[in-house]
Amino acid sequence: MQNHRKINGWDWFDYDELESTNDLALELSARPDITKAVITAVRQTKGRGRTGRTWVSIEGNLFMSLLLKFELKDNAALVFMVSLALLEVIKKISPTADVKLKWPNDVLVNNKKVSGILLEKGEADFIIVGIGVNLVAAPNTPDLLYPAICLQEVGINIDRSKLLIKYLNCFDKLYQQWYNKGYEAIAGQWIKNAKGVGEAIAIRTPKEIIKGRFVGIDYSGRILLNKDDNIEAISAGDVFFE
Ligand code: BTN
Repeated sequence: MQNHRKINGWDWFDYDELESTNDLALELSARPDITKAVITAVRQTKGRGRTGRTWVSIEGNLFMSLLLKFELKDNAALVFMVSLALLEVIKKISPTADVKLKWPNDVLVNNKKVSGILLEKGEADFIIVGIGVNLVAAPNTPDLLYPAICLQEVGINIDRSKLLIKYLNCFDKLYQQWYNKGYEAIAGQWIKNAKGVGEAIAIRTPKEIIKGRFVGIDYSGRILLNKDDNIEAISAGDVFFE
């Protein structure tokens, strides 16, 4: 079953079950009447994560995909806005919660991953932002790349619809800031909330593990590592803290 509702200019399509909310977003991106939509599902049977991994989709958690028009050149801003918006929502609900960002777009609570974000291309100039948030349960399989946590574990009890509405609100505000002030306004807030700035980290890329000191992010959203006093910019990989 599917429900449709409008919230603050977003078309919200909520399903009982989907294979992946990102797949439905891709279908909707071909529709001429859609400009800005969010797709959610109570159950997701084939959730996917970054680099072909599976996203373990436990019922009660939030699975959503934003479908919006965004130019490819501004992708870096979008990547940081989507994770910042979630950090802000969690901090609003629980101001003392230990929430940090992990490059490129993970949100950590108590140093464990509470969400995952997967950007994909839609039709024409649509971008699909798939976001999974662990609300009531976190996967606990031995093959997990990074330890996971859910919001309930830190005393935050919120259902997926309420979280979604708060999230869209924060995202819209950040979008306005980006629109009015540009990438730097977003990148500045992102780095302030990032874990491990100035510290030794390791980045696992498909080819190698690169170690260095995390010194910042650049205009394309790449992470900057100081490696033997040379600055290296890396565009994709998984960060691990030393
Ligand atoms: C990651 O690997 O960290 C990204 C995970 C993204 C999961 C979300 S859940 C909603 C959307 N639908 C999917 O199939 N994946 C994303």
